[in-house]
Amino acid sequence: MSLLFTPQTFGTLTVPNRIVRSATAERMADDQGRLTKKIFPLYRRLAEGGAGLIISGHMYVHPDGKAHPEMTGIYADDLLPGLAKLADTIHQAGGLAAAQINHGGIKNDAESFPEAAGPSALTTEEPFVSRDSRALTPEEIETLIDAYAQAARRAKQAGFDAVQIHAAHGYLISQFLSPAANRRSDEWGGSFENRLRFLHEVVKAVRAQVGPDFPLFTKLGMMDGVENGLTLEDGARIVGALDKMGLDAVELSGGIGGEMLTNVKKGIRNEEREAYFIEFARKAKAVSRLPVMLVGGFRSRAVMEQVLAAGEADFISMCRPLINDPAFPNKLKSGETDKSGCISANNCWAREMGEGIACKCPIKA
Ligand SMILES: Cc1cc2nc3c(=O)[nH]c(=O)nc-3n(C[C@H](O)[C@H](O)[C@H](O)COP(=O)(O)O)c2cc1C
Repeated sequence: MSLLFTPQTFGTLTVPNRIVRSATAERMADDQGRLTKKIFPLYRRLAEGGAGLIISGHMYVHPDGKAHPEMTGIYADDLLPGLAKLADTIHQAGGLAAAQINHGGIKNDAESFPEAAGPSALTTEEPFVSRDSRALTPEEIETLIDAYAQAARRAKQAGFDAVQIHAAHGYLISQFLSPAANRRSDEWGGSFENRLRFLHEVVKAVRAQVGPDFPLFTKLGMMDGVENGLTLEDGARIVGALDKMGLDAVELSGGIGGEMLTNVKKGIRNEEREAYFIEFARKAKAVSRLPVMLVGGFRSRAVMEQVLAAGEADFISMCRPLINDPAFPNKLKSGETDKSGCISANNCWAREMGEGIACKCPIKA
């Protein structure tokens, strides 16, 4: 039996099918993080294309948290009109919208900021660090927790159906979780519980702003892939703890940066290479009852159905296949295709200002 096009609920949100558009930074905002008009047709096509839930590209929750040029901002109320238009565009085209909220931490945009700050002072001697950084003060940490909470409040106010807290890919929350990046000896670092504290406090503060019934989930990096980093066992312990934090679902990914365990793997040429974080889902399912969204290398219907049928994940998340063809979900549904045209060459990143994400591979859908 096909599960891909059956509905599934997480929290109070019923998603009409199991396909999630994983957060994808669009690079379509101005230098203040305000959305430019280029972004709306992209999201209309995504919603018309049939993905059950559409997660926005990451949005910075505080002016200092911008991770790269043209990133979308959600750090101030005057950004609300553009954000509301984005949620509305998705709804008008029949889709459901989640806002992904994030802070770059030590990975903030070097062109915009003279300095970077995260849990600990780090240098570029670390394989996952691109520039020297300083440690945040306890007061700054409290300010940032509130920034996530206010950002989530804005997402709800703008009409988004859910909020996703970005806790993966080496950004601020992932930095706090990681023993390689977080070397603090105060209550925010050291033990497993202390490294988890920042995420936990963010979730509590966000929940207090959006209320008990608003769908709230996280994208969790379960494993760093660098020396002394978060191990898969640590990652599974975090998933176990998420259940009790009041989240409604978890999307699983991995990689803190550097080359060892990238979250955006290239060359997915056959089914064996698909679902490259499947082991993470198996570990997560063993310790948690939270609905699981799994991302990373899904390209063919057979693999998606197999993972759903085995109960290893409840949702299939995809990024690059939907850059390649936003209508891929509908084409799977109608039987027009069984496999994405995405060749996972990573030519979709914007290289120049004003370019935006787009599939630039020779084989297009
Ligand atoms: C152009 C591009 C932008 C991305 N932006 C984000 C982002 O804003 N937030 C995020 O959590 N992941 C981001 N990712 C990672 C994807 O969500 C996803 O985890 C990864 O691409 C693996 O899934 P895929 O094989 O379906 O592409 C991005 C990936 C690409 C290629």
